[in-house]
Amino acid sequence: MNGGETRELLDALIGHLEGLRDEGTRWVEVSPGLLGEALGPVSMARGATPAHQAGGLSPSGPARGTSAGGRDRSRERLEPSGAGAGGMPGRVLASIPERPSLEGPAMERGAKVAALDALLAKATACTQCAAIARARRTVVFGVGDVDASLMLVGEAPGREEDQQGEPFVGAAGQLLTKVLVAMGLGRDRVYIANVLKCRPDTPGEAYGNRKPTAEEMATCIPFLFEQVRIVRPRVIVALGGTALEGLLGKQMLSVTRLRGRWTDFCGVPVMPTYHPSYVLRQDTMAIKREVWEDMMAVMDRLGMPISAKQRGYFTKG
Ligand code: URA
Repeated sequence: MNGGETRELLDALIGHLEGLRDEGTRWVEVSPGLLGEALGPVSMARGATPAHQAGGLSPSGPARGTSAGGRDRSRERLEPSGAGAGGMPGRVLASIPERPSLEGPAMERGAKVAALDALLAKATACTQCAAIARARRTVVFGVGDVDASLMLVGEAPGREEDQQGEPFVGAAGQLLTKVLVAMGLGRDRVYIANVLKCRPDTPGEAYGNRKPTAEEMATCIPFLFEQVRIVRPRVIVALGGTALEGLLGKQMLSVTRLRGRWTDFCGVPVMPTYHPSYVLRQDTMAIKREVWEDMMAVMDRLGMPISAKQRGYFTKG
């Protein structure tokens, strides 16, 4: 591996760990020996201290025995990364489905409805992810105005969504609805969809969610790409890391680093922000304000007026 590749791998690892942290993970099992082997040369090349001492990973728990491979295993705490805030390249998804072409005039409303109905029929019949298809109750396709200027993209349906057949209707969805109302929008004025159209199966567990695998994302993402092509929004909001990864065709992106910074999907501006579930888990004014600042940037981009009252949301305890 050359220096550039090693650096990219390290960036991807940091992004992955930050993504886990964003999703609520506080501890990961690592082998300091392996970390040293994998990251030591890079740290040296950067003139930095070894990675596990450098802020990205800081050892804080007692050693927890020895792995089967004979290495010491310790508990490492995820702390905010001290790495620079520059671009986060991420790792390219193993198989990147073809991006839609968004050139030419947008479809008429009637044609959009017909195209989305046809796509829904395809999604409903899809069994490519066999285990997920067996476990699902419904296919959660998308909801909202087919002529919406704003599309919001999430990760995958959870339990409530699977039961009701509509994206973002559980606790996270209720928060999302509140955010939309604060923006002066209702759910019927935007279009909401997910990277995965089916709830990722959680074998042996009735509750809980899991992040879709890269393969599941690559299998399902063409449906989302088609939705974007048909609806042709003026702005997309990527809610959380999975949405951003799906749109950009990369893995291990860190929303903590990328939120608030415009990116692009086939010429459509994309604003990454935190997933509402993360906001609910964190429940801090600072995180809510960050999401709100991202939403104000979206409003600005869409030419929506922002009142003084709106500008002040989440500034006071
Ligand atoms: N989380 C998502 O990402 N999507 C949903 O539809 C619900 C929760």
